[in-house]
Amino acid sequence: MRFHVMTLFPDMIANGLGTSITGRAIENHIFDLNIVNIRDYSKDKHKHVDDYPYGGGAGMVMQPGPVYDCYQDLIKDMKHKPRVIYMTPQGKVFSQAIAEELSKEEELVFLCGHYEGIDERVLEEIVTDELSIGDYVLTGGELPAMVMIDSISRLIPGVLNNDDSAEYESFQDGLLEYPQYTRPVTFLDKKVPDVLLSGHHGNIAKWRREQSLKRTLLRRPELLEAAQLSKEDKKTLEKLKKNIDL
Ligand code: ADE
Repeated sequence: MRFHVMTLFPDMIANGLGTSITGRAIENHIFDLNIVNIRDYSKDKHKHVDDYPYGGGAGMVMQPGPVYDCYQDLIKDMKHKPRVIYMTPQGKVFSQAIAEELSKEEELVFLCGHYEGIDERVLEEIVTDELSIGDYVLTGGELPAMVMIDSISRLIPGVLNNDDSAEYESFQDGLLEYPQYTRPVTFLDKKVPDVLLSGHHGNIAKWRREQSLKRTLLRRPELLEAAQLSKEDKKTLEKLKKNIDL
């Protein structure tokens, strides 16, 4: 997988993704991160890339020329046109399902806007997907691009140390994750649940599944509609609903 990020703030992306798990995966060539500075494609002698909006109004708008030239340079050696994802609060809200779908692509281009946005004409020309990370407005698309690249990359085999861990975490089957505990056995007079110390793998798995169901029921009940539930899960949920004062 190769991620390309078109941005005016390349250091933000390099610093953000060059650290921790993603940083190690890039170093080990498990995926590639290619960051391109849109400002390098400015034809202006002061390297401007933005201008006042036609029709008036607050703020500045990114001009179409540098974005288009940057894109053309980026795709010049590609065999197929890649998906180009524009970060915008007007897009579809990003989710685990979208992360899974995107993790199957060979190349992905993330276009980060700044100021009041990007001239519509170049967006119409190059963008294939518009995505948002939630219903709030940020100063630019860099943080959303990093959020998406982080969640997509952890689905790529070899990015996480333990192959299992991507499978068991929240949302993988539509449920929230069960609570985790580590040493010490007792902390602030609270003991780790006995079942986790029992060494009985069957009971541990059952307890964890129940905890996942309970958490989802209490915190995000709407997720249960789309979750993959077995007959056993449905029985457990019925029991939980009776016992929990919702
Ligand atoms: N750009 C500004 N706000 C955003 C958001 N919430 N999601 C994606 N891109 C954005």
